[in-house]
Amino acid sequence: MSDSISVNHSSGPEALAEAVTRNHVVVLVDVLRASSTIITALANGAFKIIPVPTVEEARERIYHYPNGFLAGERAAHPPAGFDYGNSPRSFLTTRIKGRPIILTTSNFTRTLGKPPDTATILVGAFLNIDHVAKTARYLSEKTAQPISVISAGSMHGVSTEDDFTSYQLIIRIEDPEGPPGYADIGDLARELLVSRHGSLLVRAGYEDDIYFCAQPNRYNLTPILQDGGFVPFSSDMKIPK
Ligand code: MLT
Repeated sequence: MSDSISVNHSSGPEALAEAVTRNHVVVLVDVLRASSTIITALANGAFKIIPVPTVEEARERIYHYPNGFLAGERAAHPPAGFDYGNSPRSFLTTRIKGRPIILTTSNFTRTLGKPPDTATILVGAFLNIDHVAKTARYLSEKTAQPISVISAGSMHGVSTEDDFTSYQLIIRIEDPEGPPGYADIGDLARELLVSRHGSLLVRAGYEDDIYFCAQPNRYNLTPILQDGGFVPFSSDMKIPK
């Protein structure tokens, strides 16, 4: 076990707002699928992911980004006229290189809301579990602030797949050199598949997304919110206090 670090877990928009008010280093987890989509899009060269809470706002904001794409979902499917849905696999393309993406989703962007520029908000999922754990530790040590891992949750209440992912992430944050709390991708996929949202995605035809989102450490990248959009974290960035 390495040096002790203060890390806690909670869920939903109020918890996130409180952690931001307290200046915590926040990791927002929506494993199915918004966190996984943001990580994948940035890993495939997207310039910035701009989260907005509503479909209407996304349609308005796109006029400020002539080379941007509209992405997101409602009830798992892309809203009318959007370029992309919220399937992380659809961002495995060079088409998005250097392009901003306006993203709106049912839970992640609603839970995120519009935090102040002073907030330190990272995005976590299995795809970047070790990288985000190390980044959160680094920022916590640098700013002397605790870490809050926040499950995005769902409009229907708790979100077991986000809580499971948050729990696995906390194991990596608390003891980055120790063994992970899971055996393999099969372990993770099983847990995601039996969740309420996992079953909904299967029924909606997105079962392959679940296996994609269950891959631990596919990417060495941590999205961080900077000037209203998520970009890959780098240690030479100016970090809000
Ligand atoms: C959300 O933010 O609610 C989601 O990521 C939903 C989804 O695309 O499955």
